[in-house]
Amino acid sequence: MHFPGALASLLSLATLTSVALGDLRITADNHSFGGVNFPQLQFLEPSYREEVIRAIVKTNARVIRLFIRGDEHHADPEPEVGEFDRALLNQFDDTLAAIHRISEGKIKVIIAPHDAHALRGSNNVPCDGYCKRLNGAFLDFYSQEEYRTYYKTRLEVFFRHYASKNFGGRPWSELSEVISGIDIQNEPWSGIWPIPAGEAWLCDIATHLKDGLGLGENNIAVITGGISGPQTVDGIQNFPDSVWDCPAVDVIGIHGYFAQGEEETAGTPWTKLFLPGNTLTGRATDKKLILVEEWSYMNTDSGLNYKKQAIFDQGNALNYRGIPWIYSHLTFTDEGTTSKVSIMRESNFAIGALSDVLTRASSARSNFNWSKYLPAPSEGLTNLTTLPLNPYIPEQSSCTFGCEGHLCDAADGCRPNLLCKNSICQPLSESQPGKVGDACNSKKPCLEHLKCASGSCQLCNERATIQPWDRRKDNTYSSHNPFRRDPIAANSIAGQCHPDTANAFLTPPRSLCYLPSAHSPRGNPCTNAKNCDADQYCDWGLCKRCTEGCLGMKCRNNNKCKTGFCNTHGRCDYAGKAKAVMGPGGQGRATTKNRKGAGYNLNAPKGEGRGPNKVRDEAMRVNIPKEEVVATGAAAATA
Ligand SMILES: *[C@@H]1O[C@H](CO)[C@@H](O)[C@H](O)[C@H]1NC(C)=O
Ligand SMILES: *[C@@H]1O[C@H](CO)[C@@H](O)[C@H](O)[C@H]1NC(C)=O
Ligand SMILES: *[C@@H]1O[C@H](CO)[C@@H](O)[C@H](O)[C@H]1NC(C)=O
Repeated sequence: MHFPGALASLLSLATLTSVALGDLRITADNHSFGGVNFPQLQFLEPSYREEVIRAIVKTNARVIRLFIRGDEHHADPEPEVGEFDRALLNQFDDTLAAIHRISEGKIKVIIAPHDAHALRGSNNVPCDGYCKRLNGAFLDFYSQEEYRTYYKTRLEVFFRHYASKNFGGRPWSELSEVISGIDIQNEPWSGIWPIPAGEAWLCDIATHLKDGLGLGENNIAVITGGISGPQTVDGIQNFPDSVWDCPAVDVIGIHGYFAQGEEETAGTPWTKLFLPGNTLTGRATDKKLILVEEWSYMNTDSGLNYKKQAIFDQGNALNYRGIPWIYSHLTFTDEGTTSKVSIMRESNFAIGALSDVLTRASSARSNFNWSKYLPAPSEGLTNLTTLPLNPYIPEQSSCTFGCEGHLCDAADGCRPNLLCKNSICQPLSESQPGKVGDACNSKKPCLEHLKCASGSCQLCNERATIQPWDRRKDNTYSSHNPFRRDPIAANSIAGQCHPDTANAFLTPPRSLCYLPSAHSPRGNPCTNAKNCDADQYCDWGLCKRCTEGCLGMKCRNNNKCKTGFCNTHGRCDYAGKAKAVMGPGGQGRATTKNRKGAGYNLNAPKGEGRGPNKVRDEAMRVNIPKEEVVATGAAAATA
């Protein structure tokens, strides 16, 4: 527990705790978690691989996502369709065993058993046996029965036929002590939305994994793997209706790549996407789990100085919303301007910020119960009373505290001219009553942090951070001054603010911004629910905390909700949320804007292979009796 610098420092803990009741904080007792993607981990020379795994354990990651695919130095374990290389499966099995042993069972693995990029030879993933056979017609992989059968065989060989070298000959589909979940594929229809054809493939493969190969009975999750590639804030790329309707899908895997912008942090889109109780999270309640399987730092013109900030912002936003996540991705080579984070660097590099949010994730709370797939850690859950500030915002940044797009949990988390709404500092809308300069009186109050004086709402001062610099004669802040001390940035976790009694010295002498009353927060003025937080309703001109018929809850019999409207899934939704465009024919191509980062993150850069990589000497054919394949396929074919 720490007191962030700017506004909160000298207030009592009791005050803050009660104020926090008015926000969208997750209070459920389920654990969230964080993890890392590490494509090609299996290809490292064993002793170096163990060193890397030991470094990952230190970050408090709970999950490592691995890929079964080739790279420029290694073949796929199915080099030709229908032929399997046991040596490569042994190598993968060795990796599972090392993770299990070194982490003492604390880290589990999620496996992407195939990468859609391999069907096209895109994203530096070599064109594999399927790709050669498809010869460019990669969508046939999903719509042609022939390929579906081959793919089911691949999954069957990996998860049933292969006898684990390290786990007593058991099939991978039973190794729930080390495997948490399996993707149906990495990014099926990557970059293509709406799905043009073959959508039934999704549930067919999910059912094959869950029922046919027995993942269900072994408590290993079936994960969608980031359908159609990158998710946008208002789109449904990663969760089309076919996913919700498929009982074999346990987890919706979301892949999103968001860059820091002028008016938002890299974490702001995540904060919006997972507003508790919105269409997505409300629909998932008690039905599906949600996992951000891939997110990344995206380089911008501002440059790499902002990498740590952007990593913390995103992890922090996901932790605050209680959505587990997996960073994409770790490497042991150079980072350059890529999203990659080198696991072997010192903590003042990007890995420091990533380890920080990973550690926080391990005690973050979630509305979703993951205990079936990942046991809760022995450490308890966080009792944070304030949202952690981002300590990685560079000092030269134009704004270090409470800026537009920053996360907030109360009015004092934002600059005085912004409103903390839905956990984001945002400019006031024209329609917002009680703004600075608006007329006010006893019946027409101002925003809670503003004072009504002479009939109008007054501008207020934020509490200033105490600066420690030396107050001798020459206290100018310059590099020549021997007494010079760097100013304390507003986001400094060591900072403190001036007590309210010091206000007289401030110029101009404005009053300080109020904090909402601890015990009976009055609520901001409103004309409708859109002016309020998503979990509030507008009650006779004031935002009030909603306790029934509220966001995320089932609508009442008459389809009525207090917070917003009753959505098509029978749950109360937020009035301020733009309607999601469903299904084909909508504004389907709106994804291009965010496509920049598509799958880019799982590139296999040159030279990532290291050490004696020559485990494979020759391909080995696994003979699967034809009838058996057919039987499994038939049992699973529901679509
Ligand atoms: C944990 O998550 C489940 C949903 O999976 C929810 O029903 C339950 O209330 C949560 N537990 C607590 C203690 O909040
Ligand atoms: C999560 O679900 C398990 C059963 O799957 C249950 O034992 C546990 O109490 C739940 N945890 C919470 C915090 O609700
Ligand atoms: C966390 O907060 C809850 C609710 O205020 C309280 O009951 C619990 O004792 C606190 N736990 C810790 C470890 O402080």
